[in-house]
Amino acid sequence: MSFELRPHKLVYGGKALAHAQGQTFLVTGALPGETALVETVGVVKGVVRASAVQILSPAANRVQPPCPYFNTCGGCHYQHLAYPDQVRWKVEIVRETLRHIGKIPWDGPIKIHQDEPWHYRNQAELKVERIDSADVAIGFFQAESHHLVSIERCKILSPLLNRTLEQLNQPAWRRRLGDYREVSLLADDQDGRVRILLRAGRHTNEAMLLAEDILRGIERVSGVVIEAGPERFVAGEAAVLYQVGSFRYRISAGAFFQASRFLISHLIMAVTDGEKGLVALDLYAGVGLFSLPLAKTFQEVLAVESHEGSAGDLAWNAQAAGLDNLTISNQKVEDFLRRYARREPDLVVLDPPRTGAGPAVLRPLAALRPRRICYVSCHPPTLARDLGFVVRQGYQLESVELFDFFPQTYHVECVARLARSAG
Ligand SMILES: C[S@@+](CC[C@H](N)C(=O)[O-])C[C@H]1O[C@@H](n2cnc3c(N)ncnc32)[C@H](O)[C@@H]1O
Repeated sequence: MSFELRPHKLVYGGKALAHAQGQTFLVTGALPGETALVETVGVVKGVVRASAVQILSPAANRVQPPCPYFNTCGGCHYQHLAYPDQVRWKVEIVRETLRHIGKIPWDGPIKIHQDEPWHYRNQAELKVERIDSADVAIGFFQAESHHLVSIERCKILSPLLNRTLEQLNQPAWRRRLGDYREVSLLADDQDGRVRILLRAGRHTNEAMLLAEDILRGIERVSGVVIEAGPERFVAGEAAVLYQVGSFRYRISAGAFFQASRFLISHLIMAVTDGEKGLVALDLYAGVGLFSLPLAKTFQEVLAVESHEGSAGDLAWNAQAAGLDNLTISNQKVEDFLRRYARREPDLVVLDPPRTGAGPAVLRPLAALRPRRICYVSCHPPTLARDLGFVVRQGYQLESVELFDFFPQTYHVECVARLARSAG
């Protein structure tokens, strides 16, 4: 049964919030200010999930989604909203999340960094699914499901990634991917060469032959890595070299790297520019995106990263940059902080995964009394929770910046800077 709703705001997660008949609704497909005919799809923790079946009065900022998969593929959430308003809502959502979860009433400015809203991704994690004994589909999952939507082109992937996807989708290649469940693509900074990573849960036949054939047969492929259960096959280059400004980063298969082609240098600047001193800690360092520039202006930098491949890349990247004041600790941040006792580092950069840092990291970190903390986050709720904790330990929030790394989606990257309060 359908009924009318009028959502009044967007919330984190890509849905619109509405209240009616004493109930709270999260609506997919409707925008704030619109009157929509919706149908209930379920109830989670007392909140009714609904989906718009008809927009009765469209908002002025509603636009026609340019992608034919928008209503089925789960990758994008905001293609129906004009781009400037996507960013405006993200600012609102970050501010509200800080207030609501972190109990931080941030009334200061939120500096926005944005660039091209299409074709911005330098990487893609595609799913592969067998559709019959002879053929497979390549694509992304539908929203909140494991149902695969077969994709031929994606408007947020770089041009090279789209060309690679187009070729992988040719029947002759596609049919050879039946044993695999994931295809992961990473393009270099010029969008000139791409590394292909294929993953299978177990041993696959002729993996090495497939890797070599793809390297030879698909244009602009720098390397193919096949991970099949415990086995690993490499044809060509296993790692991508990615230049950002004067730094070059080696990125091995499985290592994390920021996904926005256009805003990585802005992020590095926001974190490192103007920073100098004796000691800096770069926690959750990845392949050293921030450690390398920090090592230019600090006497000593300690980088902590738990993923072995990323830590190996970081060591390689530091050596290639001629930096011998950078120490790499390949362990979990929580284990590192249990033993690290040098108090009052000048700066701690902290860039955890979506789960955030939490008290197990923040308590020992606060005990070190760093002078400044720079928190980089891809998940506003855990950022707000963690900032609330840090502020209660005697730190003052000094600035918040928003990087629209993921246009057309609800995802957002933030940088928050804090300083130890006097006294
Ligand atoms: C969001 S990425 C940031 C990486 C890097 N700062 C960058 O911007 O490229 C988070 C990184 O933390 C690492 N990681 C996840 N959990 C960790 C933990 N408990 N201790 C140390 N590193 C961890 C991941 O392997 C990943 O490289």
